[in-house]
Amino acid sequence: MESLMTIDQNALKREVARAALAYVEDGRILGVGTGSTVDCFIDLLPEIREKIPACVSSSERSTKRLEALGFKVLDMNEVDEIGVYVDGADEIDPSFAMVKGGGGALTREKIVASISHRFVCIADQSKKVEVLGKFPLPVEVIPMAARAVKAKLETLGATVKLRDFVTDNGCSILDASGLSIKDARALEDEINAWPGVVTVGLFANRGADVLLLGTAEGVKTFE
Ligand code: 5RP
Repeated sequence: MESLMTIDQNALKREVARAALAYVEDGRILGVGTGSTVDCFIDLLPEIREKIPACVSSSERSTKRLEALGFKVLDMNEVDEIGVYVDGADEIDPSFAMVKGGGGALTREKIVASISHRFVCIADQSKKVEVLGKFPLPVEVIPMAARAVKAKLETLGATVKLRDFVTDNGCSILDASGLSIKDARALEDEINAWPGVVTVGLFANRGADVLLLGTAEGVKTFE
């Protein structure tokens, strides 16, 4: 039963990945996120190779995958703007605010999203929630601040775990569970202001513009 559910979820990821191809803008730099849903998207990109002069990627993982398929990947410092950014999410709410960072790429994802005109979120139906916070909220921190930031997250009522992981930026990740996030923008601003926090995995101030949701009834588009 469990493996059947996994197969279905993977099929939904492939379907939303395919639907996102239509959002890629001809001749403009494409922003590429990180995760298993984005991996499906990258694998389809050779079908529209001639539309994509170059990409900017949000992780070493996606960069390797793109380069292996022959795509040019630019450093963000070579680029002024990106047309469309395609990325997944761990949770997305009705206002298109997201929790991201399950794959540990939250900081670069937020940076790439910040210069992108359009953020297209690709997700299977399990990611759509009414209130963010069931998925543990990732917070990337400078390693020496991990204990201090953990203590501050605990004052918000979270149970916090240090992930056994080093980010592409050489930093650590705290996963904060048990938060019911009613005001995602305010919480994003608050946590981002703490000393030692690199990025909180709340994407509320710059949320998604389009959601392509893979469901049992097909891909649903929300704009
Ligand atoms: C990585 C992310 C991913 O977009 C998020 O974790 C969703 O991943 P997946 O497509 O594997 O479910 O934020 O940092």
